[in-house]
Amino acid sequence: MTRLLPDARADVLVIGGGIIGLAVAWRTAQRGLRTVVVDPSPGDGAGRVAAGMLAPVTELQYGEEPLLRLGVASNRRYADFAAELAEASGGLDTGYRACGTIAVALDSDDRAELRELHAFHLRLGLDSTWLTGREARKLEPMLAPGVRGGLHVADDHQVDPRRLLTALLPAGERAGVTVRRAGAVELLVEGGRAVGARLSTGESVGADQVVLAAGPHSHRLPGLPEGVLPAVRPVKGQVLRLRVPDAYRPFLSRNVRAVVRGGHLYLVPRENGELVIGATTEEQGYDTTVTAGGVYELLRDAHELVPGITELPLLETSAGLRPGSPDNAPLLGPTALPGLVAATGHYRNGVLLTPVTADLVSEYLATGELPELAQPFSPTRFSPDSARSTTKALA
Ligand code: GLY
Repeated sequence: MTRLLPDARADVLVIGGGIIGLAVAWRTAQRGLRTVVVDPSPGDGAGRVAAGMLAPVTELQYGEEPLLRLGVASNRRYADFAAELAEASGGLDTGYRACGTIAVALDSDDRAELRELHAFHLRLGLDSTWLTGREARKLEPMLAPGVRGGLHVADDHQVDPRRLLTALLPAGERAGVTVRRAGAVELLVEGGRAVGARLSTGESVGADQVVLAAGPHSHRLPGLPEGVLPAVRPVKGQVLRLRVPDAYRPFLSRNVRAVVRGGHLYLVPRENGELVIGATTEEQGYDTTVTAGGVYELLRDAHELVPGITELPLLETSAGLRPGSPDNAPLLGPTALPGLVAATGHYRNGVLLTPVTADLVSEYLATGELPELAQPFSPTRFSPDSARSTTKALA
């Protein structure tokens, strides 16, 4: 066996400098651990495409109650997280906005779907208020006359993920994080333990603990032993960015989600006049092409919901890859390979779950204890042994 003689050493090596990797690194360095992030293009990835809705209640799906708990916990941390990050980055604002969200329906089937979601909210004791079409239009006068009703969730907010990423880099560096602009090309494993990574520059970085935060590329890292991490599949989302000219403001005052003939759409209006419209959901592998069909679908549905959007300048089209685990919930904490920790698989919730992921994973890295809130999201939940012990516990 060749023994590792690393070119550099860290307590914690984070592979992936997207929104999750940078936030975990920042929190970890704050705990006094020497932290290195490797990424050929830190601050890029799905976070640069995401709209930044912080919507654990309006995005709730049946059977995802543990994820709701995690999402609500993260949402509650956001205001403080954003304020602390602004200070730690030397004054960079993250665009956090406690604006609330409405979800509306365009036809009677869409309304039935939202009625069921509302009933589910009430069963779980969540703060969610039913609106008639008229009440929805009173809150958001730009909504089409055909809007048939919906619900208002005062606690689902927004942040600007691009500004968040911009702030995370200097905040991390000021806390002592070293960012290496290079790819990790191989996980280094010695004696059954992750001990670092080899980089695209040919150098190696040794570390006591390695965090995999490489989104949909996490399970593809050469050197990762089979079965340690389930596949994290890429789920493409196409997104549009428009600008609301001053004369048209306020165009929308809060996030607007909609069910449009069974399809799901959202509009996120920022304080600076940007309006983000998203998103398609496509299982197309690692392709990030923006397609005419994707843009058409978004504009068609958005126009039906808010006819005035056709007057707005279209600034940008983009596509990103959400990292989807087999159950669409994140992978947080130690893996079956000693020394290797996961912070990936956040699927539709990466921006929302950034503060809580950073807190929980850095807590584990610093203490060796995985907080209770993270335990349902252990990466080992997909292993055959885990299934056997769950079955036994249920019997
Ligand atoms: N959370 C919004 C999306 O993934 O499209």
